[in-house]
Amino acid sequence: MAKQPIGFLDSGVGGLTVVKEALRQLPQEDIVFIGDQARLPYGPRPASQVQEFTWQLTNFLLKKQIKMLVFACNTATAEALEVIKPHLSIPVVGVILPGTRAAIKASHNGQIGVIATEGTIASNAYEKAIKLRDPDLTVVSLAAPKFVPLVESNQYQGELARKIVAETLAPLKETAIDTLILGCTHYPLLRPLIQDFMGPKVQLIDSGAEAVSEVSVLLDYFEIANHHLEGPRQTSFYTTASPEMFDQIAGDWLDLNEIHAEQVNVKESN
Ligand code: DGL
Repeated sequence: MAKQPIGFLDSGVGGLTVVKEALRQLPQEDIVFIGDQARLPYGPRPASQVQEFTWQLTNFLLKKQIKMLVFACNTATAEALEVIKPHLSIPVVGVILPGTRAAIKASHNGQIGVIATEGTIASNAYEKAIKLRDPDLTVVSLAAPKFVPLVESNQYQGELARKIVAETLAPLKETAIDTLILGCTHYPLLRPLIQDFMGPKVQLIDSGAEAVSEVSVLLDYFEIANHHLEGPRQTSFYTTASPEMFDQIAGDWLDLNEIHAEQVNVKESN
């Protein structure tokens, strides 16, 4: 089992922020990634639809013989993880609890901000998870629906992105938060602009990157880490839309020369 790949799913290229961390922290693990770009964004969709789509991505990855599944998507974690996890016989990791733990650890004044998609914010998943651990903490939540389209259209750098980040995050400037959770895996691509706008006193938490530390712990716990990689590690990328934009963003972001994602139809594969 140790030699089987780890599967990652997201609605689009956001999940690559998690894959990037996995490439760094887990250099001996093979990786299979699927982004459902044909149907993104997931953020505004009803929970039942997010569950249906996430099941399709999960079934696609299970056919790739994965040994562990990572929901590299906050919206899928908030709305589908608890529904899907009990049906699977492999470990399943979401991004919300790792982000929650990291934020609690990082905050000094107990005022934590969360930015995420409308779906994740409406689910209240971060606030519930934080308050469950410490009811005295204050959580300020804000939906940032304009961020995902910026990233997916490869416009996450430059003046337009800077303007949208400033407009969206303006309400947070009025608060006393000292920690801000990037509660959508697309947002780390906007991290320099978010940090610039929030200022150096606000610590940003990348939930996806935190999730990879949890993956690492679980690989050890279940004794399924690959310690004997034969040859170069394998990475496979799949998207449900045209791979052109995916290859471009993935190549830049992961700093890998040749990314050729394969376009697949997850509806047919089930
Ligand atoms: N990257 C996803 C997340 O972490 C979803 C973005 C979207 O499709 O709305 O929530």
